[in-house]
Amino acid sequence: VDQGYRKTYDKLDEMLPTLAEGENWLANGVQVVQYQGFWLPKFCVQGIMLIQDHFKPRPTDIILSTFPKCGTTWLRALIFAIINRKKYSYDFQNHPLLTTNPQDLVPFFEMLIHEGGSTSSIETLPSPRFLATHIPFPLIPKSMTSSSSGRFVYICREPKDVFVSMWHFMNKLRAKELAPLSLEEAFDLFCRGVTFAGPYWDHVLGFWEASLESPNKVLFLKYEDLKREPLVYVKKLAYFLDLPFVAEEENEGMVEKIVELCSFENLSNLVVNKNGKNTPGKGKHPGTNSDFFRKGQIGDWKNHLTPQIVEVLDKIIKEKFQSIRLNF
Ligand code: A3P
Repeated sequence: VDQGYRKTYDKLDEMLPTLAEGENWLANGVQVVQYQGFWLPKFCVQGIMLIQDHFKPRPTDIILSTFPKCGTTWLRALIFAIINRKKYSYDFQNHPLLTTNPQDLVPFFEMLIHEGGSTSSIETLPSPRFLATHIPFPLIPKSMTSSSSGRFVYICREPKDVFVSMWHFMNKLRAKELAPLSLEEAFDLFCRGVTFAGPYWDHVLGFWEASLESPNKVLFLKYEDLKREPLVYVKKLAYFLDLPFVAEEENEGMVEKIVELCSFENLSNLVVNKNGKNTPGKGKHPGTNSDFFRKGQIGDWKNHLTPQIVEVLDKIIKEKFQSIRLNF
């Protein structure tokens, strides 16, 4: 082993046993630990530390940063479609998104690095690299957030919808021989911040502050905005990525074509996303492709949460987001 990596692994061996442990919604043997204020699966901590010590950022990097269930799949598809639009502009009939799940087109940063045991799988990718991650902003190394490195696109979502989406998702992935996690149990964990990359509010606040500090580097989006005005926000996204739509593209309906291609209705009905299995060991989530498409709507929490849960969660949201006046 390379001397530099040995140092990181020694550090990990020393640190991992000292971290507080939390409950794992999936109860699948993966340990969840608290690292620098956030709850993460142990393997993510390894990935993060390898990134912190060894990753070499490039100015052209595009990093999609999300808290799970906020719209990662959608943004993977949209950004992929935006940055590759010249390649497929005349024929969306052959677009890779029609036959490939967005996760297979956009590497899951910390997972791939953890699986490879080094950053080499990412270092060998051609520029511009487009990567997706759940790493909270404070844990991202300075080398990646400095002005000479790449851009971050962040998407957040109404917390009650995030919770409901997460509860459904985790129960789909949960070991079949176990009873499903009840809404109450899940709610307790969500409020205490014991979720992958939680607490949710701290995840949001980190990127919110970063976007205020460096608006050219961090684009802060909301799922609800994108859902209500997809054309406006897809244009914003392209502009932010330094790939604005030119008049000719707008005239030929390119923005509409991308929105349509990446819509929930379109993606969720494709054979690959209905029946496609995940390829384990490729830096992908567990589960099947269809697990990432459920309803894709705003406000589904109304169909699941009791008035009591709503009251508690709304109070937390108000308190946590008061200072930044974040509305959904
Ligand atoms: P719901 O469970 O509320 O339906 P992530 O991709 O971050 O894991 O988030 C998953 C959530 O985004 C799920 O929310 C899923 O249905 C929704 N989603 C997936 N693809 C989408 C798309 N193309 N447009 C809008 N929402 C989408």
